[in-house]
Amino acid sequence: MHRFISRSNARTEQLTSELHSAQEQLAQAYQRQGAAAERERIAREIHDTLAQGFASIIVLAEAARSANGADADKCDQQLLSIVRTARENFAEARVLVGSAPQSGVAPGSVATTLRRTLDRFVQDTGLTVTAELADVDCDQTTRIALLRCTQESLANVRKHAAATTVGVVLARHPHGIELEITDDGRGFVPDEAQGYGLVGMRKRLAELDGDFTVTSSLGDGTRVLATIPTSSQD
Ligand SMILES: Nc1ncnc2c1ncn2[C@@H]1O[C@H](COP(=O)(O)OP(=O)(O)OP(=O)(O)O)[C@@H](O)[C@H]1O
Ligand SMILES: [Mg+2]
Repeated sequence: MHRFISRSNARTEQLTSELHSAQEQLAQAYQRQGAAAERERIAREIHDTLAQGFASIIVLAEAARSANGADADKCDQQLLSIVRTARENFAEARVLVGSAPQSGVAPGSVATTLRRTLDRFVQDTGLTVTAELADVDCDQTTRIALLRCTQESLANVRKHAAATTVGVVLARHPHGIELEITDDGRGFVPDEAQGYGLVGMRKRLAELDGDFTVTSSLGDGTRVLATIPTSSQD
């Protein structure tokens, strides 16, 4: 009897120790998963804010340099845009390192925020933009997602499309908010596309239970459609 009890105690101890070790491994796995998710989020933020800002600064600075002072007003405007973009990058960098409390995205309605972004885009690129921006209400996360999708889509138009006209429509639908960005550029084959931008937009929207669709074909322009359901808003 005594031997049976001591064997049973030893077995209990072994099971308890195995349980603790399994719990520890699980906790470490959760921690790793959390760190990987956070790393991915920060990478996406860097791509959508700092990297885009630097790309824009390079393009503007090179354009100002190659004009060689030929058009003083234009050069002045380019320098102004460089300073603004650098300031925005600085603000976003402070957010990313945690020394500023929240996103550097200025307050205001989504339509106002997008309008500001589009005005800058027109100023920097000289492309024609037609915009229909409804005054939709949404929370800050949705607002930032809509802004980042617009910024990345415009960056793609600037970098890849060789377009002349861009259309942006922000509308409320019975099931949520829809953002459509079209261009009349060279188009591409979405299945063959490589990069972080499109993947990042898709993931950002998936986190809000939204949808992301890219429709494009060679020579036929591009249409990006982002939908965010009403349930994930205020
Ligand atoms: N509007 C567009 N017009 C033409 N091609 C486009 C357009 N948008 C995307 N592409 C193509 O799809 C590819 C993937 O785009 P994505 O934004 O994911 O990456 P990227 O812009 O090349 O780099 P990054 O990771 O810096 O965004 C591009 O390299 C380009 O070939
Ligand atoms: Mg891109």
